[in-house]
Amino acid sequence: EKGGFEHFMLKEIHEQPKAYRDTMRGRIDESGKKVVLPELKLTKEQIKGISKIQIIACGTAYHAGLVGRQAIESLVRIPVETDVASEYRYRSPIVTPDTLVIVVSQSGETADTLAALREAQSHGAHVLAITNVVGSSIARDADDVIATLAGPEIAVASTKAYTSQLIAFYLLSLYLAEVRGTQTQDEVARIIAAMQALPEQLENMLAKPDAIKAYAEQISKHEHLFFIGRGLDYAVVQEGSLKLKEISYIHSEAYAAGELKHGTLALIEEGIPVIALATQDAVLEKTVSNIKEVSARGADIMAITHEEHVVSLLKSVNQAFAIPKTLPLLTPALSVVPLQLLSYYASLARGNDVDKPRNLAKSVTVE
Ligand code: M6R
Repeated sequence: EKGGFEHFMLKEIHEQPKAYRDTMRGRIDESGKKVVLPELKLTKEQIKGISKIQIIACGTAYHAGLVGRQAIESLVRIPVETDVASEYRYRSPIVTPDTLVIVVSQSGETADTLAALREAQSHGAHVLAITNVVGSSIARDADDVIATLAGPEIAVASTKAYTSQLIAFYLLSLYLAEVRGTQTQDEVARIIAAMQALPEQLENMLAKPDAIKAYAEQISKHEHLFFIGRGLDYAVVQEGSLKLKEISYIHSEAYAAGELKHGTLALIEEGIPVIALATQDAVLEKTVSNIKEVSARGADIMAITHEEHVVSLLKSVNQAFAIPKTLPLLTPALSVVPLQLLSYYASLARGNDVDKPRNLAKSVTVE
């Protein structure tokens, strides 16, 4: 049942290229220039009238929403709010009938997410669910569903569901952009082509896990570490940090790299591991100055970046891993994978129960 893998988590990490292909299949028209989402009940008129979008989810699904926000705001220019579902209802959210609410849930059974969906509907909002389980409570109650076709996810730590949610957000953003006329056809075609290349790029990465495995063994001896990044890298390190805590039980914090000096830098001392995600070229220079801030305090830094930056980064970091290059917006679909592998191998090195971490359940049906 684990298909030759030692754990479900590793199997599911390796199923991601297939999950990408399956989630895209039938949703890109033959010309390669257009996303089609025939399942949507949301009409083009409704789409043209959307004034804001709220994305609501828990845990890893929330982290996918952070990337989703960036995709929608940059491609469609509609303002997007993101909330963790357990907070949403209690902040008296401003929801109007022209608000599109997107709930994200692998299982479709998360109690807080379901309650947030109902709250949004009670204000007349149209609720679209991105879920991996089409027969779930959330799929049943939502006004619209975009199914991620990741296949069953068994490991408590979510991997292929997260990355398939990213694909769903990219598809949805491109669709909304087309309807609202915010991107040219050439730009849409360029993004689609880059998306279609992701599965193979991921396969190439998955074929070479050794360097990450060795690094995971190194950090498995530590009790505390930091992740830093800016922009989409910040969104991805939040997911990396959650994954690491969840299954390796190593305490970590994910920080927006520029925010460190507002307090957290006090915790950086000799030898503390810092994992810097530096894949977003537009903010690379700024990230490098933040890397230098921690390096000056003796941190042991590992950077994940693109090949072309490895040599220069090695002047300030101890190790650097290169990931394949795609468009900046799509990079999370690749850059999260070394972080998934890092948690997996760190958990393994610590002798933990990788697929069933302590205190946690796969589906959280209590508020
Ligand atoms: O089924 P859901 O996507 O609604 O679950 C939400 C979270 O409970 C879930 O993503 C959790 O954070 C994962 N175990 C993280 O790996």
